[in-house]
Amino acid sequence: MKEKIYIGVAWPYANGSLHLGHMAGCYLPADIFARFCRMNGKDVLMVSGSDEHGTPITITAEKENTTPQAIADRYNKEHTENMKQFGISFDLFTRTTTENHKKVVQDLFLTLYKNKYIYRKSVESFYCEKCKRFLPDRYIEGTCPYCGNENARGDQCDECGKILDPQDLQNAKCKICGSSPKIRTSEHLFLALSKFESKLLDWISDKGHWKSSVMKFTKNWLENGLKDKAITRDMEWGIKVPVEGFEDKRIYVWFDAVTGYLSASKEWSQNLGNPDKWEEWWKNKQAKHYYFLAKDNIPFHSLIWPSMLMGYDESLELPYDIPANEYLTLSGEQFSKSRGVAVWVPDILEKFDPDAVRYYLSINMPENKDTNWTWEDFVTKNNNELVGTYGNFVHRTITFTQKNFGEIPKQGILSNFDKEALEKIEAASKEVSDALEKCNFKIGLRSAMNLSQFGNQYFDQNQPWNLIKEDEERCAAVLHICLKIVTALSVLMAPYLPFSSDKIWNMLGHKDSVHIANWDDALSELNVGCPLEKPKPLFEKLSLKDIMAEADPFSNLDLRVAKVVEVKDHPDADRLYILQVDLGDLGKRVLVAGMKPYYSKDELTGKNIVIVTNLKPATIRGVKSDGMLLAAGGGTDTVVLLNPGDAKPGSAVFIEGIPKEPVSVLEFEDFKRIKMTVDEKQQIKYKEKTLHGEKGPIVTDKTVEKGVNVS
Ligand code: MF3
Ligand code: ZN
Repeated sequence: MKEKIYIGVAWPYANGSLHLGHMAGCYLPADIFARFCRMNGKDVLMVSGSDEHGTPITITAEKENTTPQAIADRYNKEHTENMKQFGISFDLFTRTTTENHKKVVQDLFLTLYKNKYIYRKSVESFYCEKCKRFLPDRYIEGTCPYCGNENARGDQCDECGKILDPQDLQNAKCKICGSSPKIRTSEHLFLALSKFESKLLDWISDKGHWKSSVMKFTKNWLENGLKDKAITRDMEWGIKVPVEGFEDKRIYVWFDAVTGYLSASKEWSQNLGNPDKWEEWWKNKQAKHYYFLAKDNIPFHSLIWPSMLMGYDESLELPYDIPANEYLTLSGEQFSKSRGVAVWVPDILEKFDPDAVRYYLSINMPENKDTNWTWEDFVTKNNNELVGTYGNFVHRTITFTQKNFGEIPKQGILSNFDKEALEKIEAASKEVSDALEKCNFKIGLRSAMNLSQFGNQYFDQNQPWNLIKEDEERCAAVLHICLKIVTALSVLMAPYLPFSSDKIWNMLGHKDSVHIANWDDALSELNVGCPLEKPKPLFEKLSLKDIMAEADPFSNLDLRVAKVVEVKDHPDADRLYILQVDLGDLGKRVLVAGMKPYYSKDELTGKNIVIVTNLKPATIRGVKSDGMLLAAGGGTDTVVLLNPGDAKPGSAVFIEGIPKEPVSVLEFEDFKRIKMTVDEKQQIKYKEKTLHGEKGPIVTDKTVEKGVNVS
């Protein structure tokens, strides 16, 4: 029987588009690994789906004035499509709102309850008297007791990664209305994680192959002692708790989501008409289970999910490896929808070849440390490596052979250089295999790229363009070797660059897909005599200038919330103030602004405003102004500031759907091209989209007419 490999990939919340951080964090590495395993004769089952319950969905629904189901439907559809376009080869990408999933979750829950791993306990939870509701974790914000981050959520601190209970937060606030919630007592159900401590310690003792970061995190939690976790929530959206007396509560979204790994396997089997087939992966000591996710999800996969499985059914397989990645960052900042820092997958798929994006994300994968996405580096690596080295070698080899021989020539007498080339193929194949077996994706891709580089050297040194005139037989022999390298590359690259590998494979006369070929056999499969067609280039050069020009000019802006700390009169101008503003972590700045006719010093001092931080500094009547504040005015003779509410100084102001990639210095001319206006709700619009800060839409400070310009 083929070796069984189960691959579970973190379930993305269906509350927004996917961004490149998601792709680099887990979907791409999982897919590379799955494709590699399949080509090596393993029986792979790779599943995931939309995480559709929980407060991430309800918060988005409330913001958009629609139902959670509508939000989930929209993004499940988009994610499913994007995964396919990006080449993520799931056996099943489902969702947590299916009937099957609900049944599996409730069964797991009830079994744990019967097995005494779930127990009742009265707890004090936060209740907002103003909003008249219990507040789920994500509806509470406060100060993280571990690192002091003031914007920690009730479930987790994004700054230090610690999982929290809302009661841990200092200075807790209701996220909806901002008031301080009161504690009320109610009964909840708890998962007795503490009962699994020794079993977990035992289980991780032979996990020497884990990444050190994953092991370190996991051991750390275990050594600090596992706290039992509340797994019911006071809300309406979610899976019902199958225990009497808890009808008004729902199952905690993480309990629900991780169970998707099992429920999706069952659904896949049912779809196949073989409902017990999942057991070949789950009840099989020889099967290996891999889980791909980004680092903030580690404890749910290395501690909580294994505990749930142990308590549910001893015969189920536990994770074998959890090769969690670090983060992909953008301009050094973590991708975040709420802060408007992201490159969105739907946009990227519209503009670029998925293999080009996969190449850059793979060669720059945040495997052991955070890595940064930059457009400049994307273009450079695409042009120099993907097009210049790999694409070039494949293209020149096939083009030259096709033109001069029209078919794949046969092998000649092997020179030493030829033998070296064949050894290089063997060695590269082994290197890539060794790397991919251990989920070392960057090393594997480098090895394959080294083979392309060798291919170019071999081609150049043999000078087939001279040989064709002097020694046609030797020329054919050289090209045969080159085509062998091309064949090997199409195989070794297949996990990384599935689309172009298939194209090459077909150019070499294979009718089927390279992805169903066998890794070892395929490496040497060259059909001598097979006619060749004139190839089209595989990849395209990109131009940074064009990419930047195509980008929305708004992307170039760096808008931030600033707090006015001091206001002085400009000594040489009647209408001007000199303001000192605080940008939090970004320091303080001085701006010159013509606000004197409209705001008194007292009115301005202490106010939060919105400023452009990357505008080229200007000297205004002898005083240097390092930034510009945004205000609405023009139509009438009033000018009013923009009001970002009590957002943190330095926090980003952005538009959802427009990636924020500020240039280092923005020219005033470029700023002037960006036309923002005020709408009837006093919100600021750009191209019919709303300007946001971390506390929601930005509005004007005082009411002005609709249509007034912002500048
Ligand atoms: N939806 C979660 C997130 O985006 C991940 C859930 S992973 C799961 O962070 F396995 F639990 F589903
Ligand atoms: Zn409230």
